[in-house]
Amino acid sequence: MNEAPIAFRRPTWKDDGSSRIPFWAYTDEDTYRRELERFFYAGHWCYVGLEAEIPNPGDFKRTVVGERSVIVTRAADGGIHVVENVCAHRGVRFCRERFGNRKDFTCPYHQWNYDLKGNLVGVPFRRGVKLDGKVNGGMPADFDPKQHGLTQLKVAVRNGVIFASFDHDVPSLEAYLGPTILRYFDRVFDGRQLTILGYSRQRIPGNWKLMQENIKDPYHPGLLHTWFVTFGLWRADNRSELKMDEHFRHAAMISTRGTGGKGEVTSGVSSFKDQMHLHDDRFLDVVHEDWWGTPTAVMMTLFPSVIIQQQVNSVSTRHIQPNGHGSFDFVWTHFGFANDSEDMTRRRLRQANLFGPAGFVSADDGEVIEFSQEGFEQKPFHRTVAELGGREVGDTDHMVTETLIRGMYQYWRRVMEA
Ligand code: FES
Ligand code: FE2
Repeated sequence: MNEAPIAFRRPTWKDDGSSRIPFWAYTDEDTYRRELERFFYAGHWCYVGLEAEIPNPGDFKRTVVGERSVIVTRAADGGIHVVENVCAHRGVRFCRERFGNRKDFTCPYHQWNYDLKGNLVGVPFRRGVKLDGKVNGGMPADFDPKQHGLTQLKVAVRNGVIFASFDHDVPSLEAYLGPTILRYFDRVFDGRQLTILGYSRQRIPGNWKLMQENIKDPYHPGLLHTWFVTFGLWRADNRSELKMDEHFRHAAMISTRGTGGKGEVTSGVSSFKDQMHLHDDRFLDVVHEDWWGTPTAVMMTLFPSVIIQQQVNSVSTRHIQPNGHGSFDFVWTHFGFANDSEDMTRRRLRQANLFGPAGFVSADDGEVIEFSQEGFEQKPFHRTVAELGGREVGDTDHMVTETLIRGMYQYWRRVMEA
């Protein structure tokens, strides 16, 4: 039987720059483990949720940072904490509910008990059991509960959005995002009270980076997505800008929708369906909101864990939760604002039909990500060509470019030492 070539087991990135991405970057298990360590568990902030999901003291939400299960809690004093969902005793992943409200957590195995900040407060039979006047067993006299709390993550909350990091030396969230991206972050999250409209979840059989790439790829929406092309929400002739942070890891795709109709960019585009009409045109009942400014859509990728979506009246976070090199869970949180009218809430909910696992637009994305992964697995010694708009990396004032993808891989190569 033939051995796999050594280059596959010990991968090296052959080409210069970041415009030709080796397929092994999506298929190699060791590379994936290294990504978890370097991006998800150190040096970076990961999204874990919205404050509006846990409004009251005692509320909690179970989620993940990378592959590690964590619990986001609101303590009695209103403060937000993130602790790892692994019992300090013998390692049980004790919290099984997605959401709930409680005063403390008790591990089912031996009932070690933790407060909402993760401090160990109760150990059954810690001082042993008295029998015939004699104390039997118990923890050693020098056992110090303070040394045996749950792992506590560093937490940053900005305008209702919660991030966490296992790395307590991570820079501030604001420094991490950088001024350019922070400005677009604050455009959506400007301190207004958020309301949760609902969730959708899906498991996509592709490498997690493909989801980041998808939202750093303004090339495809006007080609892949019949819905976008036909109804003019996102097309190559829309006025647009692409912006990155100084490390090129985060990005914003900023677009202003045109008037639709047939033009140069739709002629010959097979996904443009002139004859297609909506039976219910309320899906396109877009009402301009003051806080948008000029753009009608801003899609933000915050590396590595989350996408912030504003596509006309639909706003959501999309949490990327990797599980293995070839799969990730994708959790959408659709939200609104506390001062929305009843009408606006209905509108946001209707427009949310574009997104999620069965969304008019996003079903296509999930499918092509799966197809991409299939191609990569088939010939891991090959590479992609992300050279639209050149081989360089930089902000642009148009969307006919793959510059954001090149930017992300420039950063990736640096951190991964590839
Ligand atoms: Fe949790 Fe023993 S493993 S109390
Ligand atoms: Fe897409």
